[in-house]
This record gives sequence, structure tokens and C-alpha cells, in this order.
Amino acid sequence: MAKLASGRVTEKSSELLDKFNASLLFDKKLYAEDIEGSVAHATMLAKQGILTNEELEDIRKGLAQIKEEIESDRFTFDIADEDIHMAIEKRLTEIIGDTGKKLHTARSRNDQVALDFRLYVQKNTRKIQNRLLKLEAVLLNIAKAHIDTLLPGMTHLQHAQPINFAYHMLAYMSMFKRDIERLESAYERNNFSPIGCAALAGTPYNIDRQQTSNALGFEAPTINCLDTVSDRDFALDILYNIAVIMTHISRLAEELIIWSSSEFNFITLSDAYSTSSSIMPQKKNPDVPELLRGKTGRVYGNLIALLTVLKGLPLAYNKDMQEDKEGVFDSVETALISIEILTAALDTMQVNKEAMEKACKTGHLSATDLADYLVSKCGMPFRDAYKLTGAIVVEAQKMEVDLSEMPFEILKAMAPCIEEDVLEYLDLRHSMNARNSQGGTSTASTQAQIEQFEKWLLEYAAV
Ligand code: ARG
Repeated sequence: MAKLASGRVTEKSSELLDKFNASLLFDKKLYAEDIEGSVAHATMLAKQGILTNEELEDIRKGLAQIKEEIESDRFTFDIADEDIHMAIEKRLTEIIGDTGKKLHTARSRNDQVALDFRLYVQKNTRKIQNRLLKLEAVLLNIAKAHIDTLLPGMTHLQHAQPINFAYHMLAYMSMFKRDIERLESAYERNNFSPIGCAALAGTPYNIDRQQTSNALGFEAPTINCLDTVSDRDFALDILYNIAVIMTHISRLAEELIIWSSSEFNFITLSDAYSTSSSIMPQKKNPDVPELLRGKTGRVYGNLIALLTVLKGLPLAYNKDMQEDKEGVFDSVETALISIEILTAALDTMQVNKEAMEKACKTGHLSATDLADYLVSKCGMPFRDAYKLTGAIVVEAQKMEVDLSEMPFEILKAMAPCIEEDVLEYLDLRHSMNARNSQGGTSTASTQAQIEQFEKWLLEYAAV
């Protein structure tokens, strides 16, 4: 194949090499970033007197035309061009002639790809943050509607203490809030411009990296070019951040799956986000949360793959690094659609309050409250109170009643210090509201948490 850049290598490359060597089929996704970077670079070159203004105009027009061609599917992608950078440069030279060949002055594909990929990661960091903010808004709405909906709080997937459903949703809000903030810190850490670093050592041309950095919306140019062309930490950051997001999503997905089973029946996923079985006509399957849980695996794989590619690479650019992109594209796309569909599934699900409340009546959820009662009203040491409560729970099991519905006389017979007011303590809603410490599950505390999240969301959206 005839090459735009056939310097040292003069013989035609084999088709097999073209196929093996090319990143074009996947890095064409970076066309907009590539053109944006080239316009900024050419503008800087003209300002520095390295290109004339007419040359800059031609380059700009040519690049605008290429953008249009790509967006209207009229651009011919030829893998012999290797990557999107060469494909665009070749087409530019076809359109505007020799001036097109001047665009690559004072740059290399090494800083070009570092720039394009970083711009992609920065843009998509913002997109993921925005999707997470929408998810947060839906979680907050559900929370607001369920401040008084009792739910068995669990540890070890065993009934533990009564909580409310809002409180449970706010636990997920906390996770996604950290995710949004983690993305923010990655955005800031990586917001430095690679362009102008050239191949690895900078360039003898009198370039102005500050100018390209400003034009592209970065905070400043990177400090050391050798690092810049070999750095893919920004890619690792987004892969890790997405891995954590998907971990959170898969935990919620798992709960949605369990809750929608007929054993629990705590929620009903809307038909629009459920599927049916091809053979069992009665079935309604939670494919959405199952896929969310499953997709977490590939996202972890993408992180481990890039860590492994980068491990042990000598400075600076090595072709191994071309393997950096597909995993990132895949993780970004997986995260975007996963957050979107989770948001929709939550927004349309039905919360079965009665089933949740009924479930609270099994498992003796107010046992801790009885022990606390024995401590505070009877002055018993906690360990003794714990033991006695255990015995009362065994009795309740024998009688097949929940502790919250145990007849007073039986309680009194087993613990004579108990008074009538114990029934209030054993009441499930009372138990939930008793946990009124900061960050606890009581309605008042949950309400305060809702207000904190609401304030944070408003502030975040305003920035
Ligand atoms: N296609 C390459 C990549 O994605 C672009 C950089 C190539 N640089 C080089 N010196 N061959 O990594």
C-alpha cells in the first residue's frame, strides 16, 4: 500500500501487516478530537509565524470538510493509513494539496494520540458524571416517597434491624456521590495538555504550548514531555473509576434481582424493563439488572488489560500502547448505557410497601431493642440482656410468633422487670425511629440525609 509517511521503510507493506498494525477501525472514534487538536495546533503555528494565515485558512477549511465527510459517511477509511491521524492528514493533503503536509510540523503522532485520547477521556468523564447525576435525582425521588416504608435491614442477607426504604436508597446515593467526586478529581488531575511534546523530547520550533492548552480547555501544558507521550494514567483512572461505578451498580442490581423474586416481592420491575422466557409463559425475568451485574466483569477486564499492557514498558511511546483504546471505549460505552438503563428501571419500578413491611415481621427484628430495653429499664449488663433476649427469641420461634407480636404476659414471665411499655419498644416502626443517631435510619435522620443530598445535588448541578 502507498503510504503518506514512507520514510525509512520504502518497500510496500504487506496486507497482513496493514491489518495487524492498524488501529483505524477503532480509533476513528477519535476523529472529532483529532480535528479539534489539529485546528488548535495549526492556529498556534500560524500565530508563531510557522504557518502563514492563508495556510491556516486552507487547513481549517480542509479539516472542516473532512469532519463533514466523516459525519455524513462519505469518508473512505483505508486501513493502510494505519490510524485516524494519518487518515485525516492524507485526506487533507488530497483536498488542499501540499499545505496539508505542513500540519504535522512540530508535532508527532505520539503527542497527537496522547492529546486525542485524553480529550476523549475528559469529555466522557463529564458525560458519565451527568448520567450519574440523573441517577442520583431518581434515587432521591424514590427516597422522598419512602421515608416511612419499613424494610428489613440485613447483614449476611439475614434479617437484622428494621430500616426504611429511603435509607436504603440513600446508601446507594452515597456510593454514586463518591463516584461523581472520584471522576471529578480524575478530571482535574488529568486536565493538562500533551500537544507540542512531539515525539518524546519537545521540538526545536518556537511553539507556544500555553496557547494550544488554552484553546483546548486544559488547565496548563504538561510539565515533562517524555512522561507525557508515555503516560496513560488518565486512561487507567477512567477505567478504575468505571470499575468502581459498575461495582456499585452490580450491588444494586443484585438487590433488584433478589427483591423482584417471588420469595421477596419487594419490588416489581416495569414490563418495559423486563423480558419474558421463550418457553415458560408465566415468567418475567430481570434481565436488566442481570446484565448490569454481568457487564461488570468486562469492565474489570478492561482495567486489568491496560495495567498489564503498560507494565514494564520502557519510556517513551511503544506500539503496545495502541492497545489502550478499545478497552476504554468499551468501558465508557458500557458505563453510559448501564447508568442510563438503571436510572430508567429504577424510575419505573413499583415498590411493594406491604410486602416489605410484612417481611419485617419475620426474623425478630426488634431483638436488639428488647436487649436495649433490658439494659436501660432493668439495669441489666448488656451481655446478660443479650442472653435473656436470645432465650425469649427461642420461645417466640417455638410459639411461631414474631418478637414484635409476642404476648406481654409471656415476656413478663420470662423477664419480670419488663413493664407494659416494652410493647412500644418492640414495635418495628419505633425500633426504626429509635436509631436516631447521625446517619442512622430514623425518619428524622433519614430526612436530614435527604436534605444533605438535595443540597449537594443543587450545588453540583450549578457548577
Ligand atoms: N495508532 C497509534 C496509537 O494508537 C498512534 C501513535 C503511533 N505512533 C507511532 N510512533 N507509531 O497508539
